[in-house]
Amino acid sequence: MSEYLDNAVKIAHEAGRLLIEFHRMHVGFELKGDFDLVTEADRASERLVVERLLAHYPDHSIVAEEGGGREGSAGYRWFVDPLDGTTNFAHGYPAFNVTLALARGDEMIVGAVYDPLRDEMFAAERGSGAYLNDQKIHVSSARRLADSLVSTGFPSKKRSQNVNIHFYHQLAMSTHGVRRGGSAALDLSYVACGRLDAFWEFGLNPWDLAAGTLLVTEAGGICSDMRGKPHTLKSTHLLVDNGLTHEEILELFGEIFSGLYRNPMPPIIPS
Ligand code: IPD
Ligand code: CA
Ligand code: CA
Repeated sequence: MSEYLDNAVKIAHEAGRLLIEFHRMHVGFELKGDFDLVTEADRASERLVVERLLAHYPDHSIVAEEGGGREGSAGYRWFVDPLDGTTNFAHGYPAFNVTLALARGDEMIVGAVYDPLRDEMFAAERGSGAYLNDQKIHVSSARRLADSLVSTGFPSKKRSQNVNIHFYHQLAMSTHGVRRGGSAALDLSYVACGRLDAFWEFGLNPWDLAAGTLLVTEAGGICSDMRGKPHTLKSTHLLVDNGLTHEEILELFGEIFSGLYRNPMPPIIPS
């Protein structure tokens, strides 16, 4: 493990333990937007992560969700989500994590996603594979969408303009089921270790997906946008899967983008 990954893992552990303390205290929430929640735990975790990163790497840039980042002079940039799954956290729903990723130039080189409730550390380094705690992980072997369990999410911002419900319905009719866990970094980690076969979402931010997409590709999976183009941090949608179902999902997504539905919505019959 490189020094970068070692430090990312240690910092994610420490921040995760802090989140558990706040979780036990049942902290309240504030609103950043209509349905966009933030808690004292998000801010405290971010302060800790940024302080630790700056102590190790004073000239690195940091992009952190709650605004505690800074521009550095080296060609290294950390992406920090101090609490991914804030809505879950604020309601006591047990699915949240801390996620850190490091890019050198445009290339993501290190990613760590820590789930403190299950004590699960998902970690990856470019070219060295992906790990859950100390075990090497690999994406699933499902070959057909019809044999897959998939997942998606709905961003809290601009909810009324989000078209994902169309995709949700079609995928729910074509798979074993669609999960909606409320924590994008865990969704991505679960694709990496084969608990899920695919995940997609519109409108994610770099801190939500930087570590998780590296985990998926290092675990043997594929990452693109939802139209099959290469995914970049500027992409407005993301699709990851085990690589075996990618073409089939893209074909289905292509139909939905053009308004063709294999499975029409059932009519509501008044009772
Ligand atoms: C959110 C979660 C959620 C996803 C949203 C994200 P946050 O992150 O990852 O699963 O659907 O798009 O914004 O706000 O809890 O850090
Ligand atoms: Ca997030
Ligand atoms: Ca967050």
